[in-house]
Amino acid sequence: MTAHDPSLPQHLAELAGRLAREVGAEIMRKRRIGVDVAATKSSINDVVTEADGAAERMLADALLLARPADGLVGEEGGARESTSGVTWVVDPIDGTVNYLYGLPLYAVSVAATVPDADAFADGRRAIAGAIYLPELDELYEAWQGGGARCNGEPIAVSEEVPLETALVGTGFGYTRERRTEQAAIVAQLLPDIRDIRRTGSAAYDLCLLASGRLNALYERGLQPWDYAAGALIVTEAGGRILGRGDGTPPGDPLLVAGTPLLVEALRARVDHFA
Ligand code: IPD
Ligand code: CA
Repeated sequence: MTAHDPSLPQHLAELAGRLAREVGAEIMRKRRIGVDVAATKSSINDVVTEADGAAERMLADALLLARPADGLVGEEGGARESTSGVTWVVDPIDGTVNYLYGLPLYAVSVAATVPDADAFADGRRAIAGAIYLPELDELYEAWQGGGARCNGEPIAVSEEVPLETALVGTGFGYTRERRTEQAAIVAQLLPDIRDIRRTGSAAYDLCLLASGRLNALYERGLQPWDYAAGALIVTEAGGRILGRGDGTPPGDPLLVAGTPLLVEALRARVDHFA
């Protein structure tokens, strides 16, 4: 199957869904046994557990077996060049801090991407993706042109609401500098919206938006593995993703997502900080 085969996105979404479920079951099993911090990354709060590395290796091995010519980019450092045109962008555990503390909102995110210079900050766009939350047993999936589903049922973003009654998701990075900026954005936005939600998993925030349970979300500093699958799930569910108003594509420094009109109103409130 080549990158131009029309049935490829659906085939890749099925593979992504199967692997996200398998790896999700495995990390949940490990969570029951017990979790410790194995290392820290950008700050003492940016933790990594043994399960993050093991889960990424599981994904990398399974993808190599199923699609040997595809590339790989993983949060825990997995990297392989693509000769097929398809590159998998994976987050083995999105919501690692939740995972560490025994909170249920953590997810495996698996996306099949193709090059697209303007689409996102990393120059790639997902054509298929899956996000699985093992503790909730929720599998979100989408492929390009195929709509979005949760556990096989079609999902859609909410009706448009004005910013004043919008429930808005966001997240915080790990460095002191980034958090200081993020706190300033929340301080000026919170008085003018219904409320803020911070689940601890950007991948899950995107699924909540895609299934109408958040009206919009924004975050500074998201990385491709945080949003690759979720951004496709949002757009296939009728949502819209924006970067900065100056034309910088979504990703780091800014990703704003929401229903098609609300996303513009929200961006107008958070853009000048980026
Ligand atoms: C983090 C989560 C969090 C978001 C951070 C991400 P990780 O990913 O998605 O919600 O606010 O920006 O880094 O570290 O749990 O894989
Ligand atoms: Ca992540």
